[in-house]
Amino acid sequence: MRTQVGIIGAGPAGLLLAQMLHLRGIDSVVVEDRSREHIEGRIRAGLLEQGSVDTLTEAGIADRLHREGLVHHGLALRFGGRSHRVDLSELTGGKAVTIYGQQEAVKDMVAARLASGLPLLFEATGVAVHDLDSARPYITFRYDGRDRRIDCDVIAGCDGFHGICRPSIPAGALTIFDRVYPFAWLGILSRSRPMSEELVYARHADGFALATMRSTTLSRLYLQCAPDDDLARWSDDRIWSTLRERLGGTLEDGPILQKGVTAMRSFVAEPMRFGRLFLAGDAAHIVPPTGAKGMNLAIADVRVLVRALEAFFAGKGEALMDSYSATCLDRVWKVQRFSWWMTQLLHRYDDHDAFEERVRLAELDYLAGSRAALTTLAENYVGLPYAF
Ligand code: FAD
Ligand code: DHB
Repeated sequence: MRTQVGIIGAGPAGLLLAQMLHLRGIDSVVVEDRSREHIEGRIRAGLLEQGSVDTLTEAGIADRLHREGLVHHGLALRFGGRSHRVDLSELTGGKAVTIYGQQEAVKDMVAARLASGLPLLFEATGVAVHDLDSARPYITFRYDGRDRRIDCDVIAGCDGFHGICRPSIPAGALTIFDRVYPFAWLGILSRSRPMSEELVYARHADGFALATMRSTTLSRLYLQCAPDDDLARWSDDRIWSTLRERLGGTLEDGPILQKGVTAMRSFVAEPMRFGRLFLAGDAAHIVPPTGAKGMNLAIADVRVLVRALEAFFAGKGEALMDSYSATCLDRVWKVQRFSWWMTQLLHRYDDHDAFEERVRLAELDYLAGSRAALTTLAENYVGLPYAF
């Protein structure tokens, strides 16, 4: 089999790339190692920047997002027992964010791909990439009981943090920046009314908590826990009482439909390209979830990659492919900074002394009272402008 762009991974990055290339008449094959049910059921991100919504709209895959997504114009920051509203739209000249489950966006993208009749291969095993520094890289895997090979002009590594693309790059060709945080998030999805119409980010002496949602009847709640915490130690009662204590206000409980623990890390691999392999999304970088940026950053990478590939396949040369990594990393590092900043500001560190605790509370208090500081938060939270 032969294609122009071999795409490894059917997460938001790979599926969006496939759709945007299709709209530009560029061929691709998407190779995914999990089942359709698995990727459509994986509960993860939920918050889309304004630019992400615009990108999905331009890609023609946002009809349901516009019908069912919840547009948010503000959020609440809670610390010292009080909540402070941040008016995102007023601070950013009218921008907003939208709550729409990542798995819903993935379902919409899978449906668009299948409707186009173009290849999206689930449950491929033993996926490997070869000859990355040649003009004819190729992908091998086993699918439907047979060994397969796809010859490509370009391979897009959209296979997430644990994928095979980044490790296929010779170690000496990459510089890795990595930070693991000394805490994790326990996340639940519950059939209960959200505690307020907007998200609540809470800093409490015992740890961070976040109240978000998926609809007016489904709540998504997170609380800071230990990185090696065992879910068995978290009874439903303990989860609800911890959330109530940290979030304040009235929090209705309900049946817990899903729970899981997510580790927190900041990670960047530079450059995001090796020969004809281009990394996009979590394959190249991870942010701690506090700033809600992972999926948005994946979408931003794809925009840059599409522009570069469009020029390349139109015979306009490799200049934009050559600048792909630098263009992406410019945003990646700004988003890393914001995600790190939100994380360290709102979480409890066991090794912080009373001085550091007071400095953080002072920073939050300053933030809540300063239009300049709130504007900085708001412009990062709704999404920095794209490079083009
Ligand atoms: P992925 O979604 O990881 O997709 C990679 C795909 O590649 C997967 O389908 C995987 O099965 C496949 N794959 C892996 N290995 C192979 C292989 N060898 N061969 C073939 N296929 C392979 N981000 C936000 O923007 N906003 C949020 O609010 C937010 N909240 C989050 C909350 C939690 C609890 C978590 C865990 C994450 C959150 N994120 C958030 C991050 C976001 O989910 C990720 O950044 C996003 O999924 C990245 O998309 P991706 O396509 O790059 O990678
Ligand atoms: C969600 C997750 C986040 O990490 C965040 O900062 C905001 C919202 C969510 O799952 O809805």
